[in-house]
Amino acid sequence: MGTLIGVGVGPGDPELITARAVRVLGEVDRVFAPSTAVDAVGRAESIVRQACPGTVVERLAFEMSGGEARSIALAAAADRVVECLDAGEEIAFITLGDPNVYSTFPTLASAVRAHRPECPVATVPGITAFQDLAARSGTVLLTATEHLRLVTALDGPDAVDAALDDPDAAVVVYKGGRHLPAVAKRLADAGRLDGAVAGELLGLPGERIGSAADMAEAPASYLVTVIVPPSGREASPRSVHAGPAR
Ligand SMILES: C[S@@+](CC[C@H](N)C(=O)[O-])C[C@H]1O[C@@H](n2cnc3c(N)ncnc32)[C@H](O)[C@@H]1O
Repeated sequence: MGTLIGVGVGPGDPELITARAVRVLGEVDRVFAPSTAVDAVGRAESIVRQACPGTVVERLAFEMSGGEARSIALAAAADRVVECLDAGEEIAFITLGDPNVYSTFPTLASAVRAHRPECPVATVPGITAFQDLAARSGTVLLTATEHLRLVTALDGPDAVDAALDDPDAAVVVYKGGRHLPAVAKRLADAGRLDGAVAGELLGLPGERIGSAADMAEAPASYLVTVIVPPSGREASPRSVHAGPAR
């Protein structure tokens, strides 16, 4: 039986895919990519097209809205992967950012192992969106004994509130595009809007990077990341450089 490998391809810029990911994608027998439909090129596939030209990618359609349709699509995707593993193929499944951070990969791997518990599963780490945003916006994420809180705001800004209570925490907000104005309001109410940055479609067409205050005038897309630096810093290493680092 072949191995199933979740391969992180970074947040968008093809320069941010790792050498290991490129090597693995060149070595495996088949590369799968998540997609909304079999005829739609997903973000991860578009990165691989640029970083690894000539790589043949097979799409697995996932229903993003959840519910029964998602379960049916997941089962069909797992069946297809099992079929290829049973044929002895080494399989890569590409995913935006890192495969162990809010990715479809663990769900797919669990569904595959429900059929083939002996299937070896591995991952290749990827650069996350918040790492790219920290670099591009000149934001020092953590120093000394500060800590990181990574929260999601898919269903609204409430999840952000508790994280903001801790002045020594850098707060990263994922999946908050739809609620970006409400998230910014919570940051302002907590006195932490100043210094917060946002990045939308990092490394992808339509990219925007700016202060969270400026970016939050209207809802953004799903692919937006917010970084709220710790507020308890004294002499500020909040920002090391003024502009985008490329
Ligand atoms: C399903 S999670 C995937 C996270 C990814 N596995 C990672 O390691 O960064 C999707 C969320 O990641 C963030 N994200 C991923 N790629 C991004 C990008 N290119 N630009 C901005 N945010 C991004 C957004 O917050 C988005 O809602």
